[in-house]
Amino acid sequence: MSKSISIRVAALTGAAAALTVIYTAENEAPAGAAAAIWAATGLDWEVSASVTSFKGKQGQTLDILGAGGKRLLVLGSGKAGADVPLNGWTDRGGSLLAKLAATRATNIAVIIDEPGASPAAIAELAAGLRLRHYKFDKYKTGQSEDAGDLEITLHVADPAATETAIANRGATVDGTLLARDLINEPANVLGPVEFAARASDLSALGVTVEILEPEALEKLGMGSLLCVAQGSDRPARLVVMQWRGGDPDQAPLAFVGKGVVFDTGGISIKPAASMEDMKGDMGGAAAVTGLMLALASRKAPVNAVGVIGLVENMPSGNAVRPGDIVKAMSGTTIEVINTDAEGRLVLADALWYTQDRFKPRFMINLATLTGAIVVALGHEHAGLFSNNDELSIQLLNAGLSANEKLWRMPLSPTYDKLIESKFADIRNSVGRPAGSITAAQFLQRFVNNVPWAHLDIAGTAFGGGSSDVNTSWAPGFGVALLDRLVRDYYES
Ligand code: BES
Ligand code: MN
Ligand code: ZN
Repeated sequence: MSKSISIRVAALTGAAAALTVIYTAENEAPAGAAAAIWAATGLDWEVSASVTSFKGKQGQTLDILGAGGKRLLVLGSGKAGADVPLNGWTDRGGSLLAKLAATRATNIAVIIDEPGASPAAIAELAAGLRLRHYKFDKYKTGQSEDAGDLEITLHVADPAATETAIANRGATVDGTLLARDLINEPANVLGPVEFAARASDLSALGVTVEILEPEALEKLGMGSLLCVAQGSDRPARLVVMQWRGGDPDQAPLAFVGKGVVFDTGGISIKPAASMEDMKGDMGGAAAVTGLMLALASRKAPVNAVGVIGLVENMPSGNAVRPGDIVKAMSGTTIEVINTDAEGRLVLADALWYTQDRFKPRFMINLATLTGAIVVALGHEHAGLFSNNDELSIQLLNAGLSANEKLWRMPLSPTYDKLIESKFADIRNSVGRPAGSITAAQFLQRFVNNVPWAHLDIAGTAFGGGSSDVNTSWAPGFGVALLDRLVRDYYES
């Protein structure tokens, strides 16, 4: 098992650890509390810096072994006085963790005494430490190469306020890490029933969790969602999570997630190459579940509901066929052209149900919906489709702040026309052109007039490579973004 990480906060004086970390700005000697710690080494700064060519540039490291085995790590923090945005502090935390792991030290003091090191900034640094520390290695047997449990003490100017800020931001980190765990988990372990059980664990935090089984979904008329599940031996679940932290009279914010625990494509089966990635086709549902955990765990003063549709898309003698016509809860009839365009079938009923039951202030869905969005935007941005400019701007801003970026894509009646069917009201698959847009148009048919946004996270939910704050397959995309949206625009 991987080692744990614990982060504590203490005053700026009295650092006593096997390894101490200080920061210096570019071409500056250690200042503030770091100056005294440097002085205790008995070394001359000018001489040391010139011998080692350490300039204090961002990312530069000076590693010093002192008397008695005490080790000092001097890190460059870049240009003095440069205005580091909050998400720059998160990245700084991530790269700090990588440096600490390389030293193999377990007992560490970090001195943070610079202009700009507000409690909120240090909370981001702490978040970055935890996000970078995450590993999904539970199935690796044998000797771990890890050094041991990490104990990090952050020495800061205002320990009390910093501790509060770290706990608050830590709730969001917990949500991101839950989303990663769910996405990284293989589908033999995490089916619809097991996913629903993980969601119901949130009741310990005060979230009301309802789990709807196929009989109830049948009664509601969810023929669209259910036709995706019918080829699998594992039955569908719809999970409704409610957090009521706001004014009891206020309508909730609604979040809806695609939860295809595995997407073979069904009868329109996918090619074998990279099909294993389709264990992550529940990334939208994972983000919604992680977000609900974050909101409840930091007791956000807001009402929110999370709805996830959990199914497995398999070919079998019971599977839905191309050409089949199903009826959604809204009454709309759908011709299934391609059984691999299953995410929109799941969301059709989940979206309709959510707006119908909750009359939300807005409804945002997340889905690993189309390969076409990966072609368009790669792993850098998720696609944003919306019927509302104000909500779109809020989401774009939240994405920049959280460093989970979005790019807006178009919707229009002319694209909508493309999804008309020869035999039914609409069809679930069109041609290759504008594949992500026609998928979004399909979803919009189940939305009415509520302010709505669809985030196509097929390129950002998994497989995008490592970053300062993530080295695992799944970054947990969407949790920090939506938590930021709620914090910045919907908490009074
Ligand atoms: N889950 C896939 C989309 C996907 C692809 C997610 C790659 C992550 C990485 C989705 O269900 C799908 O198969 N979409 C089809 C739609 C098509 C048949 C209209 C696609 O994108 O090819
Ligand atoms: Mn598919
Ligand atoms: Zn899918």
